[in-house]
Amino acid sequence: MTDNDIKQQVREFYDQVGWSQVAEGVYQNARYEDLRPVAREYIHKCHLRILRHIPASGRYLLDAGSGPIQYPEYLEYSKGYQKRVCADISITALKEARGRIGEHGLFVVADIARLPFKDAAFDGLVTLHTIHHLPPEDHVPAYRGLHRVLAAGGRGAVVNGWDQPLMGRLLEAPIRLRKWLRRKKREQEGEDLPRKLAENTGTHVEKYNAGWLLRQLRPHMKVRILVWRSVSVAVLRLYVQSALGGRLLLKILFWLEERLPGFFGRVGQYPLVVIEK
Ligand SMILES: C[S@@+](CC[C@H](N)C(=O)[O-])C[C@H]1O[C@@H](n2cnc3c(N)ncnc32)[C@H](O)[C@@H]1O
Repeated sequence: MTDNDIKQQVREFYDQVGWSQVAEGVYQNARYEDLRPVAREYIHKCHLRILRHIPASGRYLLDAGSGPIQYPEYLEYSKGYQKRVCADISITALKEARGRIGEHGLFVVADIARLPFKDAAFDGLVTLHTIHHLPPEDHVPAYRGLHRVLAAGGRGAVVNGWDQPLMGRLLEAPIRLRKWLRRKKREQEGEDLPRKLAENTGTHVEKYNAGWLLRQLRPHMKVRILVWRSVSVAVLRLYVQSALGGRLLLKILFWLEERLPGFFGRVGQYPLVVIEK
């Protein structure tokens, strides 16, 4: 598949599936989030971590790969800015975002790896769960483009998942075993659906690890890896149950993440990559 095919496939996925509403105000994409009450406080506090790493106010905040600005916490990021510039390859995403923030927003159909903005145009930026949709050779150019459009003294927060981080490998072992057993059972029953189709996994995703990212970015920009959230949704759903002290478990996890943000940023599932100019 060419790079353009990948982007086309990602765009079609979000236009037709990811940003279709499956319930009032709930997008299909929210299946990748843990929306259970037991996890709500932890998820909420992780979302708000972004606020510590972008300037609180300014003229323009770039939201690259904004989607529809789907969670209420996301609105906080641009509260102190004159305008939030939402850039996305999905027109459906941008229409939904406009419905949410109206005049506070500017909406641009754009590829995050080729940002159509002049140098130093933004005081702050966020890009959440988007770079992983790019073809591999576009990842570093995307970071460099984001850095290019930051103003001097500006900061940006990038959130993406790591490829098989240590915590995921350990904590998801029972999930992998369960999947393997299910696959075996399907094979025995003679089902020959391709695995991807059977599991309905969405669209193109490409991930890497902390060492690789730092080696690529450090020659070009000031960059730090901190924690956004150290556990995946699969891990939350498996281990965090309200009847088994789930809320307390997550309070302890959050407390630990706050004490060791660099450690959990590297070994946990989702880093918060801070870029500065
Ligand atoms: C997983 S969603 C995340 C949306 C939002 N940031 C959030 O956290 O809810 C990924 C978004 O990135 C957009 N996207 C994917 N590839 C892109 C690209 N090359 N350039 C711009 N946006 C892209 C998709 O259309 C989608 O809206």
